[in-house]
Amino acid sequence: MALVPYDETHLGGMQKLHKPSSVFSFANHTIQIKQNWKQFGVAAVVWDAAVVLCTYLEMGDVDLRGRSVIELGAGTGLLGIVAALLGAQVTITDREAALAFLKSNVQANLPTDLQPRAEVKELTWGQNLASFSTGEYDFILGADIVYLEETFADLLQTLDHLSADHTVILLSCRLRYERDQNFLTMLKGIFSVREVHYDPGNDIHIFKAQRNNRKGEL
Ligand SMILES: C[S@@+](CC[C@H](N)C(=O)[O-])C[C@H]1O[C@@H](n2cnc3c(N)ncnc32)[C@H](O)[C@@H]1O
Repeated sequence: MALVPYDETHLGGMQKLHKPSSVFSFANHTIQIKQNWKQFGVAAVVWDAAVVLCTYLEMGDVDLRGRSVIELGAGTGLLGIVAALLGAQVTITDREAALAFLKSNVQANLPTDLQPRAEVKELTWGQNLASFSTGEYDFILGADIVYLEETFADLLQTLDHLSADHTVILLSCRLRYERDQNFLTMLKGIFSVREVHYDPGNDIHIFKAQRNNRKGEL
């Protein structure tokens, strides 16, 4: 089934990214995300992959209530916000330069009583991993974070560091270039990987990965 979760599909891809804000409806909440492509670039706009993964989570195949979640490369934080609204305890991460903008979107979109469900923290892939303990997370989420070949090894190291046997990784990806497939090959070296959803309208794949010793369970 195609996921068409928001009404901006008529806008050209780039035009959508230049809007100062975007409004979404998830988990019975209206979420208004500020965007600022000019000043902060890729981290300050909502990418289709995030919207598709939010919709997948809301559809309910995955129950996030009471689960511990970390989001990598969160950008504006839409996905982490939705995970918190769906009942998870979420650590929402990105590079240092993206954090202030990310924090402001998270604070603006979680009701006061739900604010304790989300923490915004720096995580630059392959760095400062010691401040994140292995096995703490039930889910690792990432939307459109497979796009820079020079970060693939660091991203893989980060996933490896954060994952215990029970951890489920959900990556929502637009595979733009052949090289993006290389990351999936690298991922399969450590994890069992299965495509659990494809949205043809947005050309977004959702991959689920778990440590190899859980192979039979994917
Ligand atoms: C294409 S954007 C996706 C943003 C958001 N997940 C979404 O789908 O709307 C890629 C994100 O990855 C982050 N990123 C890129 N390289 C990174 C690195 N080495 N460590 C941590 N985050 C990184 C960027 O700051 C940006 O927020």
